[in-house]
Amino acid sequence: MAKSKTQFVCQNCGTVHNRWAGKCDGCGEWNTIIEDDMMGGIGSGPGKVPKKGRAVALTTLSGETEEAPRIFTGISELDRATGGGFVRGSAVLVGGDPGIGKSTLLMQAAAALSRRGHRIIYVSGEEAVAQVRLRAQRLDAADTEVLLAAETNVEDILATIGEGKRPDLVIIDSIQTLWSDTADSAPGTVTQVRTGVQAMIRFAKQTGAAMVLVGHVTKEGQIAGPRVVEHMVDAVLYFEGDRGHHYRILRTVKNRFGPTDEIGVFEMSDKGLREVTNPSELFLGERNSKSPGAAVFAGMEGTRPVLVEVQALVAPTSLGTPRRAVVGWDSSRLSMILAVLEAHCGVKLGQHDVYLNVAGGYRITEPAADLAVASALVSSLAGLALPADCVYFGEISLSGAVRPVSQTAQRLKEAEKLGFSGAMLPATSAEVPKGANGRWVTIEDLPDLVSRIAG
Ligand code: TYD
Ligand code: MG
Repeated sequence: MAKSKTQFVCQNCGTVHNRWAGKCDGCGEWNTIIEDDMMGGIGSGPGKVPKKGRAVALTTLSGETEEAPRIFTGISELDRATGGGFVRGSAVLVGGDPGIGKSTLLMQAAAALSRRGHRIIYVSGEEAVAQVRLRAQRLDAADTEVLLAAETNVEDILATIGEGKRPDLVIIDSIQTLWSDTADSAPGTVTQVRTGVQAMIRFAKQTGAAMVLVGHVTKEGQIAGPRVVEHMVDAVLYFEGDRGHHYRILRTVKNRFGPTDEIGVFEMSDKGLREVTNPSELFLGERNSKSPGAAVFAGMEGTRPVLVEVQALVAPTSLGTPRRAVVGWDSSRLSMILAVLEAHCGVKLGQHDVYLNVAGGYRITEPAADLAVASALVSSLAGLALPADCVYFGEISLSGAVRPVSQTAQRLKEAEKLGFSGAMLPATSAEVPKGANGRWVTIEDLPDLVSRIAG
């Protein structure tokens, strides 16, 4: 039996504390911790007698299973990110920074689904009906039969969407505005959001409607308020992008009904989001291949290859401690590659500032970019431009060895498709398709790479 049934939960980040404190250790915010009845209803409190359990039938792993019934939007980039469409009876969380375009994306999805004959209800808690209508007009969605409500009370929303013909998909924009009469804390608190989301998920499971929940992300990259919401839903998609750039990426970080690591790529326009079916062309669009310090990385996003340019600038420093600045990549991985270059290749960078940028505001998460980063660094330091028609990929270990990465064939195929006839890659046991011109060069280790670039 649990000792205490109360816990103290930070309303900003959801961290659970044993006792009350003025400042949350988790996020550093002040006055955000409140007492929360976490165990409520489980039957552990005094006066409640635990009910006797009922045995459920055990089963085996093999047996008949049905494919999850899906609702296709016809927006292929969105369907790709959801793993083939929204699943009936499931809940999806779409997170992202405020102003990134979540409402726009979901309004377009709602319109597309409605045109396919689905019954769609869009509940906006952030904007008034008139504002949502204005957006719909801008997106050419005003003529569709999407049903609209501006409401934030959980019970009222449930009554509204439960009335009449069953909806195929419900969009709640956003979960941070939800509040319920049954939870006694203030709107926007962890308890309120959790209660609201639970109620929406229950509705989805009971009626078979797909539930799309919009959530804002804090600057730390978490869905604002409860992290727990991510555990409650079936899929989590992040809508992200650089404010200075006009494209947006819908990234799958959790999916109980499909693969994760998938991305959908969109381009912003005054008429809403447009699909980008070939992201490599977008990211390589403004390439200047004649300057030193630029290397094209042949990356993968889930099952899809993405070619993107990595740019490095290595210049003598005027500061006591040289600067290291990275945009679009992991700064500790950059430090590692700099250390390996110094230790195994005799490349001295202690007196140099190093800047690294991934073109187009794109963010690389794969360690396979190591070789492209190292190539860009060496190229910039040596002042020698890399061949314009060559791509780079491979992971670098601390010993300086270049290690194989997955999906070599797909990476090379995409490179060839976009006119790259050369590649520097790790030696791999996997089958490598022969290039049309056969200029795939396997790199043993970092000294090998340096001697090939700088001679
Ligand atoms: P919005 O969808 O409201 O963002 P969120 O719901 O994530 O807070 O979009 C923010 C603003 O950007 C809004 O004023 C409309 C504009 N916008 C465009 O003009 N074109 C686009 O393609 C997108 C996605 C947004
Ligand atoms: Mg919005």
